[in-house]
Amino acid sequence: MADTQVFFDHINDGYKTKGDAITLGAGMLDGEAVTNALVRIPLKTLNRHGLIAGATGTGKTKTLQVLAENLSEKGIPVLLMDMKGDLSGIAQPSPGHPKIDERHAKIGIPFEPKKFPVEILTLSKQNGVRLRATVSEFGPVLISRILGVSETQAGIISILFKYCDDNKLPLLDLKDFKKILQYATEEGKAEIAREYGRISPASSGAILRKIVELEQQGGDLFFGEKSFDTDDLLRVDENGMGYINIVRLTDIQDRPKLFSTFMLCLLAEVYSTFPEQGDSGRPELVIFIDEAHLIFKEASDALLDQIESIVKLIRSKGVGLYFVTQNPTDVPDAVLSQLGLKIQHALRAFTARDRKAIKLTAENYPISEYYKTDEVLTSLGIGEALVSALNEKGIPTPLAATLLRAPMSRMDVLEDDEIKDLLGESKLIKKYNEELDRESAYELLNKKIETANKEEAKEKALKEQKEAQRSSTGRSRTTTRRRGKSSLEKVLTSPTVIRSVLGILTKMLK
Ligand SMILES: Nc1ncnc2c1ncn2[C@@H]1O[C@H](COP(=O)(O)OP(=O)(O)OP(=O)(O)O)[C@@H](O)[C@H]1O
Ligand SMILES: [Mg+2]
Repeated sequence: MADTQVFFDHINDGYKTKGDAITLGAGMLDGEAVTNALVRIPLKTLNRHGLIAGATGTGKTKTLQVLAENLSEKGIPVLLMDMKGDLSGIAQPSPGHPKIDERHAKIGIPFEPKKFPVEILTLSKQNGVRLRATVSEFGPVLISRILGVSETQAGIISILFKYCDDNKLPLLDLKDFKKILQYATEEGKAEIAREYGRISPASSGAILRKIVELEQQGGDLFFGEKSFDTDDLLRVDENGMGYINIVRLTDIQDRPKLFSTFMLCLLAEVYSTFPEQGDSGRPELVIFIDEAHLIFKEASDALLDQIESIVKLIRSKGVGLYFVTQNPTDVPDAVLSQLGLKIQHALRAFTARDRKAIKLTAENYPISEYYKTDEVLTSLGIGEALVSALNEKGIPTPLAATLLRAPMSRMDVLEDDEIKDLLGESKLIKKYNEELDRESAYELLNKKIETANKEEAKEKALKEQKEAQRSSTGRSRTTTRRRGKSSLEKVLTSPTVIRSVLGILTKMLK
C-alpha cells in the first residue's frame, strides 16, 4: 500500500501552477480521495484541447458542466454543443444535496451553489438565438468539402462563386446557390461559357443533388441572413463572468451532415475572425462538443482533413476544443494526438472487444507507480475519472484518478417557463431572429432573365414589323431561318419547369 503523504506530495507537486488554474477535484489513492490533493488545470494550457470520455452514465456531461462553470467564473466565455438538451440547468443554482456536501468534504473544497450567465442558441426553428451563415461566407472550398463533391465539380463551384462575385450577385442561401447552378446550364450558359468555360449539365446536376441532400437535413434553415457574428460568443456579464453559450442540438442527432457542416463553418469563421493570440496565459473561448462522435460520423475524408487542420490551427487563436464521447476511438487519431487534457471516466468490460479497447486506452496514458491503469479504468465510480493534463511548461502532469467536484448549478434541465424567461432577457434574440431575405442571386438572376426575355420579345416584334412592311411592299424574300430557342422557351422547356408542371397536373388529377 502506497504512502498517502507521498501520494499527496506527488499530486501537489505535479499540479502546482504559477498562474491561475481551475480545480477539478482531488486525487484518489486505492479508491479513496486524498483530501486537498487537488488536481488543478492551468488556464494557460486550456487552449491545448481535450477529451472527456467514458461509458454511458459515468459523468461525462457533468464533467463538461464543471469545466464550463469554472471557466465562466474566471471570465472565460464558453460554447457548448448540447446534443441531449441536458445542460440548460447551468442558468440556475444547484439546490444542493447531502451527497454533494459529502463529495466536497472528501475533496477539501467548499460547495457553493451558483448560477451562470447563459445564452441559448439554435440551428433550427427551436427557441433560441438563430445561428446562420451565408453561402458566400463559406467560400467555394469549404462548400465543396461539405457537399463532398468531386474535383471537377469543385472546380465548377469555384467558377460560379467567381461569376457571382464579378457580377455582384450575393449568394446568401441555398436558394441562391441552386439558382446560379441552374442558370449556368440554361439561360446563362452561353454567357458563362464565353468568359469562364463550359459547365456540363451532368456536373451541375450532381452538385444540385448534393445540395438537396443537405437541404433535406435542414441546411436551408442554417444558410442565410442574418449571419452570426462570432464576436457575440465572447461576451462577459456585468459581474465579470464569461457567458455560457448553449447550442441546443437535440433535433440534430439523426442529421450528422448538418452538424458537421455547422461545426466546420463555425470553427472556420472563428479561425478567420479571431486575432492571433500571444502568450496571454488564458483562453479566449472554450468550445465543448458533447456526443462528438456525431461530427466524425459520415464525414468524408476531405471534411476530416479540414477538421484536423482547423483543430491544429485554432489553438493559436486562443480557442480550446473539447470533445466529449463514449469511446476515445470515436475521435480520429490525428485529432486525438493533439489533445492536452484527457479526462477518462470508467469504461465497461462486457466483451472481448471492450477489453481490448480498455488495454489500448490504458496504454495511451502516462505510466504511474500508483495505478494499474487498465484496472482503474473499469473500477472508477460515477463522477470519478483518470486525469492527465499539461502543466504550464507543456509537460504532461502525473496521472491522477480524480474524485471530481460537483456542478455548482443545477444538474437537471430548465422547465419551459424558465427557458422562456431566459430567452426574454436575451439581447441577441432581438439582433438575430428577424427573417431577412434581401435581394440576392436568386432574385437578381430572375430579373436578368426577365429583362433578356423582354428585349428578345421587343426585337422579335420589331423584326416582324419590318417583315410585314417588306411583304406589303412585295419585296420580301421568304427565308425562314430556323432560330434558336428563346430564353422563355428555354425556361418553359427546362426539366425543372416540366417537372413542376407535371407535379401540379398530378395533384390536380388526384
Ligand atoms: N461530478 C459529479 N458530481 C455529482 N454527481 C455526478 C457527477 N458526475 C456525475 N454525477 C451523477 O451521475 C449522473 C450521470 O452523469 P452524466 O449525465 O454526466 O453521465 P454521462 O456520462 O454524460 O452519460 P451519457 O453517456 O448517458 O450521456 C448525473 O445525473 C449525476 O447524478
Ligand atoms: Mg452525457
